[in-house]
Amino acid sequence: MKLAGVVLAAGVGKRMNSSLPKVIHRIQGVPMIQYVLDTLHGLKAEVISVVVGKHIGEIRKSVKDPDALSFVYQKEPKGTAHALLQAAPVLTGFGGTVIVLNGDTPLVTRETLRKFLLLHKRKKSSISILSFISQDPASYGRIVRDEAGTVTGIVEERDATSSQKMIREVNSGVYAFEPGILGLLKKIKINKAKGEHYLTDVVAVARKGGIKTDAFCTGVEEELMGVNTQSELEKARKLMKDRILRKWREKGVIFIDENFVFLSPDVAIGENTVIYPNVCLEGMTRIGRKCTISPNVRILDSVVGDGAIIRDSTLIEGSVIRNGATIGPFAHIRPGSEVGAGARIGNFVELKKAVIGAGTKASHLTYLGDAKIGKDVNIGAGTITCNYDGYRKNVTTIGDNVFIGSDSQLIAPVTIGRGAYIGAGATITKDVPSKALALSRVEQTNIEGWADRRKLKVESEKRKLKRKLKVKS
Ligand code: UD1
Ligand code: CA
Repeated sequence: MKLAGVVLAAGVGKRMNSSLPKVIHRIQGVPMIQYVLDTLHGLKAEVISVVVGKHIGEIRKSVKDPDALSFVYQKEPKGTAHALLQAAPVLTGFGGTVIVLNGDTPLVTRETLRKFLLLHKRKKSSISILSFISQDPASYGRIVRDEAGTVTGIVEERDATSSQKMIREVNSGVYAFEPGILGLLKKIKINKAKGEHYLTDVVAVARKGGIKTDAFCTGVEEELMGVNTQSELEKARKLMKDRILRKWREKGVIFIDENFVFLSPDVAIGENTVIYPNVCLEGMTRIGRKCTISPNVRILDSVVGDGAIIRDSTLIEGSVIRNGATIGPFAHIRPGSEVGAGARIGNFVELKKAVIGAGTKASHLTYLGDAKIGKDVNIGAGTITCNYDGYRKNVTTIGDNVFIGSDSQLIAPVTIGRGAYIGAGATITKDVPSKALALSRVEQTNIEGWADRRKLKVESEKRKLKRKLKVKS
């Protein structure tokens, strides 16, 4: 089906009591409108138009791939019909079905929309509305039908009669239009009570013109609820979180306590991975199978291979952790890092743009930045790659099987050849050839009997001082 999508997102969102535009309030870390856009992408909509108002800049910045969208500007929020009319020029000559959604309906799924579009096509309607039964219909437009069940109009709460207020079938704000129908929007008169042009009035206008209009009550409230207030945002967040958790639970992920886990919708987790409480998995993070993610771990936009163990209180950002590696506790893996298979990054170790080879160990108190480190290297406690000279970031290169003694500083740019040894406490400023031992510390001297001589000296000084004080008094 040839399909275009329009997302209405120019409203002021007054009921949110927030200076942030409503549609970019986040649900599980993702702006509300992004869910709607992702669903449209999933339906293979060829054109996606987003109607925005004065917050155009903020909305553009918040969504993924804004250049793939056609933003349309609605100068003033003159109502949903007026908003959709602004998108009409983008769609002239498109020739396919146009699906319209509100930017504040993040929970709607592709399956529900697909079912709706199929009914719309099968019934050969020119305009279709997706409706649902609401337990609390006051914030929605009611679907009014005649005795034969034909839709005659949509009435908003403030315009509804007391008997219309009893109707629980409501408008989800999802509409399908056949080509050429959008011109009808111009005929929608202003709603005097609100001073806006209501898109919902398209039903009455279409009926007058003998245009076939249907409402398909195939949706459920958990998917079609609109988010207008902070409380509704929280309700939508809980529903979304449950949906994400259910998906991974059913795929065999083991959550020790689901109440205390934060998962973004784009995260993927392999089977038999154990997730402890207070774990945040964000952005495009991918976790492999049979991993352990310990308490207080936060992982953003990173890939974690099968069988990796991420120990307590670790932060991993924009990095790749390969199969069977162990990270933490208390490690910070900063963007651009790659930890090889079976490698171990331990307590209080910070990596930044560091590539660590398979089997390499940096177990304690270390900073490795702008470093290329080979396989089976041993990095002693307290090692620092001094990557910054005050102007530039310089690279440290360490070959396979190198041993770096504890408390060493590697002043970059510097290269340590394969199999070399660095004695503890070294400050390395020059390249070290392969298999060499590099030492850079003052040779040790032992002064025999020094402690006893010192003791005698201190005691005699004390006696002298006492005598002096006696003489004075
Ligand atoms: C709207 C519908 C209502 C439906 C409900 C479903 C109308 C008049 N009412 O009500 O029947 O049950 O959605 O959730 O259409 N917008 C603009 N420009 C404007 C006004 C709004 O782009 O001038 C956008 C908003 O950003 C929002 C969407 O349109 O994403 C809907 O607006 P909103 O004010 O939330 O409408 P509701 O009162 O929820
Ligand atoms: Ca709404």
